[in-house]
Amino acid sequence: MNRYAHITGWGYAVPDQILTNHDLSLIVDTSDEWIVTRTGIRERRIADKKESTASLATDASIRALHHAGVKPAEIQLIIVATSTPEHIFPATACLVQDQIGASKAGAFDLSAACSGFIYALDMATQAIRTGSLDSALVIGSETLSRFVDWADRNTCVLFGDGAGAIVLQASEEPGGVLSSTLHSDGSGGDLLILPAGGSKQPANEFTISQNLHTIQMNGREVFRFATRVLVQATQDAVHKAGLNLSDIHLIIPHQANQRIIDAATRGLSIAPERVFINVERYGNTSTASIPIAVCEAAAQGKLNPEDNVVFVGFGAGLTWGASVIRWSSPFLTRRKIHPARYRLPARLRSFLLRLLRKIEGWIWGNWQ
Ligand code: COA
Repeated sequence: MNRYAHITGWGYAVPDQILTNHDLSLIVDTSDEWIVTRTGIRERRIADKKESTASLATDASIRALHHAGVKPAEIQLIIVATSTPEHIFPATACLVQDQIGASKAGAFDLSAACSGFIYALDMATQAIRTGSLDSALVIGSETLSRFVDWADRNTCVLFGDGAGAIVLQASEEPGGVLSSTLHSDGSGGDLLILPAGGSKQPANEFTISQNLHTIQMNGREVFRFATRVLVQATQDAVHKAGLNLSDIHLIIPHQANQRIIDAATRGLSIAPERVFINVERYGNTSTASIPIAVCEAAAQGKLNPEDNVVFVGFGAGLTWGASVIRWSSPFLTRRKIHPARYRLPARLRSFLLRLLRKIEGWIWGNWQ
């Protein structure tokens, strides 16, 4: 009996705070005209003090669960693909697990930079297809604004914050994720790097004085790499799915730069209408860019059941990859739960678990 991994729910969350190109021109020597012509970006969202990678991921997840009509306790695996985790540990995925009350889920973070969502989707798909689990939550979430050097015009104009999530469910019905291709080339690791804060260069006065806790990038080299691999990965994933490019209804690429996407569109010789772009409103949100674009494409009626769709991404590492998906509808076997009703039980559960741990600790301490 064959098992397939279908995308049955999707949701996204972005901060309310908008930073326009004009706002940026007041901080660094740049202009709306330069940013729009070189990148296509007009504005990006910036997290406020109360928002974090986990809070955005939680909001996106609740919307995806609501859309799929799935209860948190039915989720068996949570993967948060992120380049801006809340901590080195615990995993941001564990914070999300607690905040949504996914009491039966394993949870881990996945680090593959902007390709992370493609990698996470493939990991969850394999787990479902082998029968290891029936449902997973795959999330891309970022607060890149916290790692941007706001004095570096080469990078600060590019990035934004946000999160997107999908629910993946098992079914014997053919469809869902049809193929994936994942690649890496660590020889290009220095082209896009956040040098300090890891075990090689833990935070100290030197790393802070040298600004080594912010994104450093060789833009031209990343640009060249990106245009090449977007085409290759798309062709590879389509071929693996046993399809031709003419069978693909929509390509949803990582939203880094309009010019990179345009070059890839020309390289694939496909009509621009078959490529979804929303980089102008969010900038590059790394792992979140594909799932946010998925939600917007679906809301605009560009994703319909049985459509063949390509997700394709690239990023630091270097990493790149693509997936082909046959689009599904939510399974909706029961009435949907209102999104507001996810939070309260999760908070209560978390509070009780913490209280229980304290009581256990107290009893244990008094018996020693
Ligand atoms: N405003 C105004 N001028 C800027 C600028 C800005 N925000 N950023 C760079 N410039 C200047 C440069 O200093 C350079 O000036 P110089 O010629 O006097 O040295 C000039 O613009 C051209 O720079 P260049 O790097 O050739 O521009 P570009 O056309 O390659 O565009 C990027 C720069 C960063 C937009 C482009 O290389 C890019 O998008 N690369 C990929 C980045 C990416 O996607 N990263 C994430 C991957 S997941």
